[in-house]
Amino acid sequence: MSRASRGGPAPYVNPLRQPEDRRLPRIAGPSCVVIFGVTGDLSRKKLMPAVYDLANRGLLPPGFSLVGFARREWEDQDFAQVVYESVKRYARTEFHEEVWNQLAEGFRFVPGSFDDDEAFEHLVNTVDELDRERGTGGNYAFYLSIPPGFFSTVVGQIKKHGLATPRGDSWRRVVIEKPFGHDLESAVDLDDVVSEVFPPESVFRIDHYLGKETVQNILAFRFANELFEPVWNSHYVDHVQITMAEDVGIGGRAGYYDGIGAARDVIQNHLLQLMALVAMEPPVSFSARSLRLEKQKVLAQARTPDRMDLHTARGQYTAGWAGGLKVKGYLDEEDIPASSATETYAAIRLDIETRRWAGVPFYLRTGKRLARRVTEIAVVFKRAPHQPFAKYDTAELTQNAIVIRIQPDEGVTVRFGSKVPGTAMELRDVNMDFAYGGTFVESSPEAYERLILDVLLGDPPLFPQQEEVELSWKILDPVIQYWAEQSKRGASMPEPYVSGGWGPTSADAMLERDGRAWRRP
Ligand code: BG6
Repeated sequence: MSRASRGGPAPYVNPLRQPEDRRLPRIAGPSCVVIFGVTGDLSRKKLMPAVYDLANRGLLPPGFSLVGFARREWEDQDFAQVVYESVKRYARTEFHEEVWNQLAEGFRFVPGSFDDDEAFEHLVNTVDELDRERGTGGNYAFYLSIPPGFFSTVVGQIKKHGLATPRGDSWRRVVIEKPFGHDLESAVDLDDVVSEVFPPESVFRIDHYLGKETVQNILAFRFANELFEPVWNSHYVDHVQITMAEDVGIGGRAGYYDGIGAARDVIQNHLLQLMALVAMEPPVSFSARSLRLEKQKVLAQARTPDRMDLHTARGQYTAGWAGGLKVKGYLDEEDIPASSATETYAAIRLDIETRRWAGVPFYLRTGKRLARRVTEIAVVFKRAPHQPFAKYDTAELTQNAIVIRIQPDEGVTVRFGSKVPGTAMELRDVNMDFAYGGTFVESSPEAYERLILDVLLGDPPLFPQQEEVELSWKILDPVIQYWAEQSKRGASMPEPYVSGGWGPTSADAMLERDGRAWRRP
């Protein structure tokens, strides 16, 4: 029996010292991040600025160190200059000389190619030295910001040079970026390569959508409130639309994008993760295990309908307009073969075979060079079973909807019908709006800030596990195979759509056949 239950005073516990007390900022312990592929776009635009932003927010330890590894003849100071330029250009938070100076003291550069043993010995000496000089404690995160084709060589070298084995109670982690393979088979092969060297709890797969504030808010919205969950099912929901529209083209990423296409690039990961969060059952806790379990159930039960010709659509952008400027079509982009059948727009219908969602289609679409940049999830409700109004009074009334706006105008909108002021009972749609910008003073951290911090803290809930990756490929593989066969037989190619519009007409037809229409966000 405890002292308190015997009636004695409860032992004093300083509330600030409880480890689960989330009011305390989560600060990373002694650590070092090694980035392979440090000269790439991701590193310059996202990783380096995120490291600076974390330092600026006081979330990195004083001795934090960053090692770049790449095939460049750079000294440490050249590397520091590259990081400086990227921070100045892309960091979210203000530039502070003192923060920068302290951070930059921990920058090192190791030149070499991935198969170069000497370079890896140099890396071993560099991290050893950082342990001694800056107290990084032998805790290293190896960030593979490189094409998957190099994974095998790099993790092999990490192992061979003893870098994967922690000393004492230090840790070694590996961070991998999508694409996690290009189909189920290659995803399994890729995992074999990585898991031969690192145990599952040391592998952090980044799907940067999970690091976005608004994506994490899906869980708060659904499970912290009593208001929405009772209607979050097939009794009330008619269908769900998940849209990720981009106004940009492929930029300089032809080498990566061509042959990959929109479905593999974002549906396999970002959009299926969004769908899993929207559709999953309430997790018993927010532990990584509970969240993964619930997401996996959704992914395991999601099916593409048998008639792919009716329930999928793909397109390729042609010349048109973006932001008031004339832009090229996909086939005229640099390094894209004139006969490319790669889709830059993809839409699919999925049915989730569970009691909650039976009969509620989930429509997922994504595209480049669309009218505007917007990512949103629209849960569209059934019409009220009986309308006691005259038909002409409700002509402007559509279905109720809850729209979770992931970006750029972050927030949530509830659309419902309301009486138009006047003597008649005329009804039309109105919106009730929650906007992050108008409610919270602080700007949201970038996804990579949150994710890098979580890697350093060893906090896994926001990182998909291999099971989720494989389940996602199982959903998508049949669609991609179907499209590939169609292109091979010359039966159909991605349908051209004009840049600056809302995608191919076949995507509109896909919903029309179901008696529905895409939203125009
Ligand atoms: C990446 C895709 O994962 O996400 C890109 O590879 C896409 O093609 C990008 O442009 C979009 O990210 P965000 O955060 O700008 O929506």
